Amino acid sequence: MTHSAWASNVKFENGELTVAGKSAIELAREFGTPAFFLDEDDFKSRAATFVKAMQNAFESSTVYYASKAFTCKEIARWCDDLGLGIDVATGGELEVALSVNFPVDRIEVHGNNKSLAEIDRAVSVGVGCIVIDSIQEISRIATAAKKHGKTQSVMIRLNPGVEAHTIEAIATAHTDVKFGLSIASGVAWEAVKEISKHHELDFRGVHAHIGSQIFNMDGHRLTIERMLDFMARYRDEFDRELPEVDFGGGFGIVYTSDDAPLAIDDAVAQIKDAVVEGCAARNLKIPKVAIEPGRSIVGPTMFTLYEVGTTKMVQLENGTRNYISVDGGMSDNIRPGLYGAIYEAHIANRTSNAAPTASRIVGKHCETGDILIRDIDLPSDIAPGDLLAIPATGAYNRSMASNYNHVPRPPVIAVRNGAAKVIVRRESFEDLLHLDI
Ligand code: LLP
Repeated sequence: MTHSAWASNVKFENGELTVAGKSAIELAREFGTPAFFLDEDDFKSRAATFVKAMQNAFESSTVYYASKAFTCKEIARWCDDLGLGIDVATGGELEVALSVNFPVDRIEVHGNNKSLAEIDRAVSVGVGCIVIDSIQEISRIATAAKKHGKTQSVMIRLNPGVEAHTIEAIATAHTDVKFGLSIASGVAWEAVKEISKHHELDFRGVHAHIGSQIFNMDGHRLTIERMLDFMARYRDEFDRELPEVDFGGGFGIVYTSDDAPLAIDDAVAQIKDAVVEGCAARNLKIPKVAIEPGRSIVGPTMFTLYEVGTTKMVQLENGTRNYISVDGGMSDNIRPGLYGAIYEAHIANRTSNAAPTASRIVGKHCETGDILIRDIDLPSDIAPGDLLAIPATGAYNRSMASNYNHVPRPPVIAVRNGAAKVIVRRESFEDLLHLDI
């Protein structure tokens, strides 16, 4: 079975892409290109599916949306309405959530090097949980809590020493990484003892995130075993059970038809089995269970729409390659360059019966590596003015966008029921010059 990389309300009619009733041609005319178009109902349905699956699986649960994948005020409002929490990894992501009065008790703060200012802000507004990722951070949080006269709930991020089968740069829990406190080396246990010295800290439980774009739950299952072992040890030594556990995100999505991710319900069902069996085996009460999906909520819901500006048939030793240049590039999608990520593309404005020809989709930046799709067969008649759509660009594209070559970052437009609204506007040259003195 091949899997679709398109958002659920994307259709092709006579070769023209439509999303939730708006055609690519209309959208390009109204909002310009390049632009990210977001299928709002698809986002909400994926988020709600996670929440419902977790509620069915566990008596108490939270789905934190990993806002690093993509956040803005409207996304934070949707998450609030749908009952999700938000995982923030920096002060900036925290400010987005606070700017729409996101319920602070559903905000969870991450980061391997939170600044004193970030810690102070998080504690002072009363975030639900801070996930500790270093020994040094423990006293910093305790000091902030004391200053604000608060008790701060904390978890610790464990490094369970599990190899996740994904791209190295986005695997996070093998041994030689900056994230988490290693169980095997004993530093995680040291953290537990250190936390117990600070009465301003309420130690709620353990967290792990083993990587991203993962297609099977073997790594999660092993991680859950190791985390539950740790919780059992805690119970035995401190005579108290940790009430919460958080397994992070990482659930894979379809980028090309070769990708075969688990359905959300299946992934959650496997977590449930591992937790229920693992707790029974250790005589632990089933804790409150949290997860932090980012990519698997927002990734499939967007596509990037580009306009073709130039084409160039380049002679190779054995054949030709059509270089198709679009009006964006590595500044709106660094993932091919950074991770070798592979995408698909489709003409979005018409059908073509021209023969498929070896092509490369490149951007407008002054860099050879500015490649969006290295190898793709596309109709040989693609011409300036054609619209190209690349699906599955919702996660880590706009959020990792840059202004390289002083290119303004594209807008994000939510489409629903035949209506489109800007949720992040296009950057202007004025925006770009705003910071210059
Ligand atoms: N929780 C924690 C603690 C994380 O570090 C991450 C991702 C997530 C949750 C969400 O993972 P997701 O469900 O989105 O896979 N820029 C890379 C991905 C980096 C992921 C970093 N942490 C990419 O473009 O693939």
